[in-house]
Amino acid sequence: MKDRESDSMDPETPVDKKRIAFLASGRGSNFQAVIDAVAAAEIPAVCVGLITDNPGAYAIERAKGAGIPVTVVDYARFPSKAAYEEALLSAMRGCRADLFVLAGYMRILGAGIVREFSGRMMNIHPALLPAFSGLHAQRQAIEYGVKVAGCTVHLVDEGMDTGPIVVQRCVPVLPDDDETALADRILAEEHEALPLAVKLFCEDRLEVAGRRVRVR
Ligand code: GRF
Repeated sequence: MKDRESDSMDPETPVDKKRIAFLASGRGSNFQAVIDAVAAAEIPAVCVGLITDNPGAYAIERAKGAGIPVTVVDYARFPSKAAYEEALLSAMRGCRADLFVLAGYMRILGAGIVREFSGRMMNIHPALLPAFSGLHAQRQAIEYGVKVAGCTVHLVDEGMDTGPIVVQRCVPVLPDDDETALADRILAEEHEALPLAVKLFCEDRLEVAGRRVRVR
């Protein structure tokens, strides 16, 4: 709470707005969807930073385009995962964010980071969890033969794609779909689901009780 009080004195952060920061490793289209919703005043927030583990991430261009500060914590430059995580943690603390949005962040966060930001980190996953967690979720869905797929925005806990679910959206899987066709159909829903979940958080409308997230 102390941080938030001091933030309220920060002229860059109006008291009625949350500070949101992002972790992304690649293309950043979900990051862009949230940037756009904030710019359109659909989300009461200020985007305070992008942290990426990948110096080649296109998300960096998107951040620059929106005037969002970028911190590159290049995984390849660290001697160990522990050293990387320490630098990442320090970059995250530096954001003084109310919420961290994992928008295509392709690494598993260590337990220390998850604990420190518990309840304040959201991830988007391109499947209807708990089905098809982990990598290549859309391929897993096609190979399994499901008729309905989708995306999930969830709070981050110490498991892989296991945290309490905030928003889900579904799409049909069509007979001739390949992984790309299905991924594109899901992605269009992701671009709605993630801004919605971030908006609900920023409006203080999420109530978490164990695994269940109620929207006020
Ligand atoms: C999305 O499909 C997201 O669900 C997954 O990684 C992909 C990132 O896409 N976690 P983008 O970088 O947001 O375009």
